Amino acid sequence: MPYSALAVTQWFLSGRNSFGLAGFERASKTFSPSTLQSDLRGQNHIITGGNAGLGLATATALARMNATVHLVCRDKARGEEAVKKITKDAASDSIHLHIADLSSPDSVKKFAASWLDSKRPVDVLINNAGAMLKSREVNSDGNEISMTSALTGTYLLTTLLLPALTLAKNPRVINVSSGGGLTVKLDVDDLNCSKRSYDGTEQYAHAKRAQMHLSELFARKNPSISFYSMHPGWAATPGVQKALPDFFEGKWGALRTSEQGSDTIVWLAAVKPDCIDKTSNGKFFFDRAPVSQHYFLAGTSLTKEEEERLWANVQDICKHRWA
Ligand SMILES: NC(=O)c1ccc[n+]([C@@H]2O[C@H](COP(=O)([O-])OP(=O)(O)OC[C@H]3O[C@@H](n4cnc5c(N)ncnc54)[C@H](OP(=O)(O)O)[C@@H]3O)[C@@H](O)[C@H]2O)c1
Repeated sequence: MPYSALAVTQWFLSGRNSFGLAGFERASKTFSPSTLQSDLRGQNHIITGGNAGLGLATATALARMNATVHLVCRDKARGEEAVKKITKDAASDSIHLHIADLSSPDSVKKFAASWLDSKRPVDVLINNAGAMLKSREVNSDGNEISMTSALTGTYLLTTLLLPALTLAKNPRVINVSSGGGLTVKLDVDDLNCSKRSYDGTEQYAHAKRAQMHLSELFARKNPSISFYSMHPGWAATPGVQKALPDFFEGKWGALRTSEQGSDTIVWLAAVKPDCIDKTSNGKFFFDRAPVSQHYFLAGTSLTKEEEERLWANVQDICKHRWA
């Protein structure tokens, strides 16, 4: 299923208006610091892909608020570098490194098992790791990597850590999706993009759309935990520089900084429970507010039956059945 033309048009117009730096500057005039908890001491916040870009900025902001921060990174050296940087920038000694490759279900299972062994609660899980690829790459199970990386965090790590999330007072799961996900109807029967011709940007949009649906499905299946998906806007990060160099250089206008792009992630992680609408569980957030996951007449919703097939196919890719 290719892009929805109506969705792409609306995405382009709203993107030019609000996803970049100017949009953040306008939206942030309404942000109130009093909605945030001032001290996250004693809370465990896990951030996948916390060594660069938005993940690094999120980890630093949460460490400044005294959270105990756990980075889940695939590369030990890059992870250690990030721990050093956050420790210094946030003046915190509560930064921990865990190694896992989010494109490998086996690696994610290993990390989750070691976490559960530690008996620590998880207050906030931020599924941030993600990448847009130029050509189709597969993991050792033969599954396409940009989709699998999104699904192993959003589905597998989340389900495996549910026992630890339920130990927390006010547990939250934040899935870092993208406005790009708004441009497609998810192809639930070809998550791996083995039937469609491969276009890295389009497959990325499917992966990000999948995260929105999974956030909603989790919120329905497990209402005692808060699940959110979100769009950071367009931010200048190493990932964007590598995948979209022209865009990084400002082809569509000035981009947000990593700190500005991570603002809504940090807000969802740290907002006071009574400052977020209880009915927003499962919703898609942009600039600290829930927004629609579907553009007008875009035809991007799933039927109930498609949602069920999505859930089953995700479980196959992650090699793990839950609910
Ligand atoms: N920047 C934007 O404008 C924008 C817009 C919309 C959505 N997003 C989303 O925001 C998230 C962060 O993006 P970013 O722009 O900050 O990208 P980035 O600069 O490339 O950072 C991505 C992070 O994810 C890690 N990662 C990627 N694949 C991984 C894997 N298989 N296992 C473990 N870690 C992995 C990377 O680790 P390495 O350093 O080892 O590669 C890096 O730490 C992504 O989910 C992206 O889709 C970003």
